[in-house]
Amino acid sequence: MSKQKSNKRVPLQEKLEKNVWALVLATAMVVSVGGIVQIVPLFYLDSTFEDLSNPDFEELKGVRPYTALELAGRDIYQREGCYLCHSQMIRPFRDEKDRYGHYSLAVESKYDHPFQWGSKRTGPDLARVGGKYSDEWHRQHMRDPRSVVPESVMPRYPWLDDATIDGVGMEKRVKAMRVLGVPYTDEDIKGAAASVEGKTEMDAMVAYLQVLGTMIKFVPGREYRD
Ligand code: HEC
Repeated sequence: MSKQKSNKRVPLQEKLEKNVWALVLATAMVVSVGGIVQIVPLFYLDSTFEDLSNPDFEELKGVRPYTALELAGRDIYQREGCYLCHSQMIRPFRDEKDRYGHYSLAVESKYDHPFQWGSKRTGPDLARVGGKYSDEWHRQHMRDPRSVVPESVMPRYPWLDDATIDGVGMEKRVKAMRVLGVPYTDEDIKGAAASVEGKTEMDAMVAYLQVLGTMIKFVPGREYRD
């Protein structure tokens, strides 16, 4: 009886379904192949970013690395988990464009490590919030969102006023960004500590929010897609 059974060919699918480790291994292999096919070409294709060498797209060259203060703000943005409620990715749909402005371009986040695109929108997208409000509005909004937007469910961040930015730490962070490929110069690194001297976390957060989406001066009607 048992001899008969062992001669029966067991299909691969059944084998995998009955052995959890084989299933895990096979799943990992399939996912890796899918990942490699999708992700690796992006590192080599010129079209991953919009074409910066195209003289018609001069305005795209406005994208620059963050200043030390903006970078400090970005770090606080991550520390406080702002990305859990805010995306920074305007999708190419009319309703998004009408509300937030030009859809996000890949080149706009080329110095972002890691990206802050996000997908959860409890609050509005922030990819182009720079210049939308005054610095004072942002300060007041961070300290107590409901004092400016009564129906807001955003938490308060009053402690940002109390902490100052650590200059030595900033110098190291700018350096780390250079390792990741952001073209900071030696002067940028040397000047990082001095440029954040005496600044509060609130100053850094406002500087970061005010630069979001402002580096490219979009020409109305111009398309950057192939
Ligand atoms: C629990 C979700 C939540 C978190 C976390 C959160 N926000 Fe918000 N945020 C909102 C909501 C909801 C609104 C819309 C109401 C308002 O303006 O307060 C908003 C609005 C904003 C706006 C105004 C956007 C606009 O276009 O009017 C800014 C700027 C902002 N948030 C920044 C931040 C920053 C910076 C952090 C992290 C320190 C943060 N938010 C964390 C939910 C959140």
